[in-house]
Amino acid sequence: MGRELTVALVGATGVVGAEFLRCMAERDFPVGDLRLLATKRSEGRELNFRGQPHIVHETTPDAFDGADVVFVSASTAASLELCPAAAERGAVAFDDSSAFRQQEGVPLVVPEVNPEDLRQHNGIIATPNCTTVPLVLSLHPLIQDRALTRVIADTYQATSGSGGAAVTELREQNAAIAGGATIDADQISEYPKQIANNALPQVDVFLDDGYTKEEWKMLAESRKILHLPALPLSATCVRIPTERAHAIAVHADFDRPISPAEAHQRWTAQPGLRVVDGRAAGEWPTPLDADGIDETLVGRARVDSTNPNGLAYWVVADNLRKGAALNIIQMVEWMLDDGCL
Ligand SMILES: NC(=O)c1ccc[n+]([C@@H]2O[C@H](COP(=O)([O-])OP(=O)(O)OC[C@H]3O[C@@H](n4cnc5c(N)ncnc54)[C@H](OP(=O)(O)O)[C@@H]3O)[C@@H](O)[C@H]2O)c1
Repeated sequence: MGRELTVALVGATGVVGAEFLRCMAERDFPVGDLRLLATKRSEGRELNFRGQPHIVHETTPDAFDGADVVFVSASTAASLELCPAAAERGAVAFDDSSAFRQQEGVPLVVPEVNPEDLRQHNGIIATPNCTTVPLVLSLHPLIQDRALTRVIADTYQATSGSGGAAVTELREQNAAIAGGATIDADQISEYPKQIANNALPQVDVFLDDGYTKEEWKMLAESRKILHLPALPLSATCVRIPTERAHAIAVHADFDRPISPAEAHQRWTAQPGLRVVDGRAAGEWPTPLDADGIDETLVGRARVDSTNPNGLAYWVVADNLRKGAALNIIQMVEWMLDDGCL
């Protein structure tokens, strides 16, 4: 038998935490000892992993003693405190928040794109934002032999991207509307406005230049992962009333043309991607198609009618899985194979 890991999971009771447990169980991930951690509120809760009950404990840095890997999927404030604490204790912390993504010396990785970056770290490794992951995964095979000159990316993001409480709020608003009611201010807490029957062009806070932080993350993170520090990328991030999986309408410009057929070939050869690209009813990928699966789905490829060197397409991925838990699990698997963990 290969090496088994001592794994600490911070945020075990959250929606990403639940996905970590599912993905590790499905993939035969080498878990020896598993420590499930959350806040004091969850102390004593029982969660199942591979058919065995595990008790959730309040997170304290001592829980990281002897851990090989610590998955931190809680909040930015928790990450800022807990990731360094895990690294100080000799574990490698894998962080799901945006706290460390832009820090020098912290790898920001999609394993199918820039796995070698995992070899140099100081005990903290970051996973990208859940919209950046499918975007860079779809661009990567297209730019092996041509330069990317500009990207426009507009997102359609599910409520689970804001955590379990946002999904509950959407369901409650949907139920109220189905019962004939209108939504009052006291039924709105997770978003600035009603999410049911709506589309909100604000994800995360506004920055001085009028973009939101989510839009800035897509720019800064794509540059770091693709090693293209000057990449021009403009995003509009929109929250829509779905529960799971984020979609992105992408317009990518290159230094020379790429046909949809060539793009299909590249995407088909790229691990982690699946082409779903036809015109008949349902032959294009939707968030429901991507819900609960590992692969990122890509379709609607066409030459951009405003630029012969441009390709327009549509990409969809499960934000909790490839956008968060699965991406981290794949990093650990790559590092174990490589011998750098
Ligand atoms: N949702 C996504 O699509 C997505 C994608 C990429 C990254 N992320 C990031 O992943 C993290 C978790 O998101 P989520 O969607 O799973 O949120 P969630 O459903 O709201 O769950 C939050 C989890 O974190 C725990 N927690 C909160 N503060 C903590 C603290 N100070 N110490 C220890 N545990 C704490 C909560 O424990 P209690 O249950 O005890 O309160 C809960 O288990 C966030 O940093 C988020 O930005 C999310």
